[in-house]
Amino acid sequence: MSAIETIQQRRSAPKLTTPAPSAEHLQAILAAGLYAPDHGRLKPWKFLTVEGDARIKLGKLYLKAALAETADLSQERQQRIKNMPLRAPTVVIAVAQPVEGHKVPVLEQLIATGAAVQNMLLAAQELNIGAMWRTGEMAYKSVVKAGLGLQSKDEIIAYLYLGTAVLTAKPREPDAVDQYCVSWTGDD
Ligand SMILES: Cc1cc2nc3c(=O)[nH]c(=O)nc-3n(C[C@H](O)[C@H](O)[C@H](O)COP(=O)(O)O)c2cc1C
Repeated sequence: MSAIETIQQRRSAPKLTTPAPSAEHLQAILAAGLYAPDHGRLKPWKFLTVEGDARIKLGKLYLKAALAETADLSQERQQRIKNMPLRAPTVVIAVAQPVEGHKVPVLEQLIATGAAVQNMLLAAQELNIGAMWRTGEMAYKSVVKAGLGLQSKDEIIAYLYLGTAVLTAKPREPDAVDQYCVSWTGDD
């Protein structure tokens, strides 16, 4: 399949189940991320893979973060929070670890990490592995960052959920290119 076909056919898989990507496929997906455009070759990223029981520990960390803000969460809500990382057999946490004070602005380093995530999504599509880019409130909580061993300047760019898609969504209908892309011809 051509790169353009892979791009056109990629869809997110909100429901994922086992089997998890094989070690070989996971490696290929992670490696694809590392080909992302990266100004200054700063490699301003870290990718944490979370599989098996580590997902349970991640769920507990989420709960700790939620309870630190709201002590009286219902049992149902607590359970839902704990179960979040169990929505896929494999979670890749894409973290931007920007180099501050560098001539390459932090924004560009965050974007490079996002580009790495997109590469991973496309690699997963190519390998017929279900994938979804999620963030949500747990991407922004200091307790979660600390529990993952991150610094406060680090940013969680994605929780990339990987597994076997329960349902395969149809490719999106193409957007009207002219609606979003215009030729800028400058001022006279
Ligand atoms: C930075 C970022 C964060 C996202 N976070 C979420 C999320 O937390 N929950 C969600 O349902 N979709 C999230 N999405 C959107 C999905 O990944 C997906 O792109 C969207 O549902 C459209 O589906 P499609 O990829 O099949 O076109 C996020 C996308 C991006 C780029």
